[in-house]
Amino acid sequence: MDIAAEISSPNVMKYPSQSTLSSILNFIPYYTNYLSFLGKLSQKYGDIVLFRAKGERIWLVNDLDTIEHILIKNPDNYLRGTGFSKLRMLLGEGLLSSDGELHKRHRTMAQPSFHKRSIEGYSYLINDCVKDKASEWKDGSLIDIQEESVDLFLKIIIRLLFGKEKNEKLLEMGKYFDSLTYNYKAIMLVGFNKITRKLPFKWVDEFYELMEMYDKTIYEIIRERRANPMDDNSILSMLMNARDREGAGFTDEELRDELTTLYFAAYDTSARTLTWSVYLLTQNPDIKNKLTSLDDEAAAEYANMIISEALRIYPPAHSITRVTKDDDTTDKVKFCTKDSIIISPYHIHRDSRYFDLPLKFTPERWSKENKKEIKRFSYIPFGAGIRSCMGEYFARMQVASALLKLCKEYDFEITDGSKVKESPSLTLKPSKRFHLKLTSATR
Ligand code: HEM
Repeated sequence: MDIAAEISSPNVMKYPSQSTLSSILNFIPYYTNYLSFLGKLSQKYGDIVLFRAKGERIWLVNDLDTIEHILIKNPDNYLRGTGFSKLRMLLGEGLLSSDGELHKRHRTMAQPSFHKRSIEGYSYLINDCVKDKASEWKDGSLIDIQEESVDLFLKIIIRLLFGKEKNEKLLEMGKYFDSLTYNYKAIMLVGFNKITRKLPFKWVDEFYELMEMYDKTIYEIIRERRANPMDDNSILSMLMNARDREGAGFTDEELRDELTTLYFAAYDTSARTLTWSVYLLTQNPDIKNKLTSLDDEAAAEYANMIISEALRIYPPAHSITRVTKDDDTTDKVKFCTKDSIIISPYHIHRDSRYFDLPLKFTPERWSKENKKEIKRFSYIPFGAGIRSCMGEYFARMQVASALLKLCKEYDFEITDGSKVKESPSLTLKPSKRFHLKLTSATR
């Protein structure tokens, strides 16, 4: 097929080679230097680029109209990308990995539990967990903020999902999984599947053993709750009571998959958001000082602006991926069946056409007046449309609570070198661990 004929965007005057050789050559930078590879492609070829890697046709789509087409106007044609099929063995057919009617049924059943009104009722749970976490910090403590965030948000999500349950096994599973994303980036690229299961490494066996233990634990909790239903306001109880249009509820397996999806979707992204927000404050002490000088109401609002800005510069969901179901044509591009699509919030959020001085950390962009100027689809840290994040409100609440607590009680600085780079694992995380030295705030 003539690729030039497929693209009529005025931005796209040239296109990369589509040869088999280029597909092979792209393989290494695509896997080893993913964000910089995508950045270079769009700098050279524009907002819509077709390239080949690992034998696949892959579109990088950073054009805002085309993003609207994919996410809002014709979302049924754009299925979950390969990124999620890698995780299917772990997440099953939960909201993140399912498609079509199954996805619609589950989304309709699960969504009410995440409405703003339902979520507001959880602020006591969040504040309780944040208080517990903060009681572990002291004047002079040296903390690993990534580890602290993962621990905190795992504890919160376990309580949100299962009620009073303080389940050590579930906590252990999350921490172990998180350590894999630092120590074994390769498996994150290949994914969890029948081939990786057979790799002759100790940690592969450990991981799958832990998975079995995790499943056993979740199924035990589900069976126990079925036998003794309770109205404890947990997501598990709500999902058990949810019914589809025909009056059918979730099966045990469906519940396992949804709970697992929520568990992973919630803690990892939130932990990255808190980590990056704190990191940005270490680089911009004037903004931290401003935050702590405000009264409670104004500080809560400003904390949210800080979080929005951290999500802009370091969006945990650095890529939103899809695979086309059928051919589809817009006025700018013609997609073919089974094309892969990557939308890159990371690059769009850092584009100077949409944000002045894009690398400058400026929470004021998100004031009530200024945010009206932000162009639609130029800021999509939570996605958009029928597959947008269900937990946005909850995520913002829990990250803001932790950020405010840390900032009000302590001054902090990084002890091991001040600059930290980003690394695109499953989510966008710091390429290395860094530590904060806490000093009691004297105000
Ligand atoms: C700052 C933290 C978070 C960020 C940046 C984030 C980001 C995202 C993004 C970008 C998507 C859409 C992916 C796509 O279109 O392919 C998504 C989906 C989702 N998120 Fe989040 N998320 C966060 C926190 C949470 C939390 C706390 C929960 C649950 C308590 C959650 C639950 C979900 C679910 C269930 C989906 C799938 C929705 C669907 O496909 O119908 N997320 N998230």
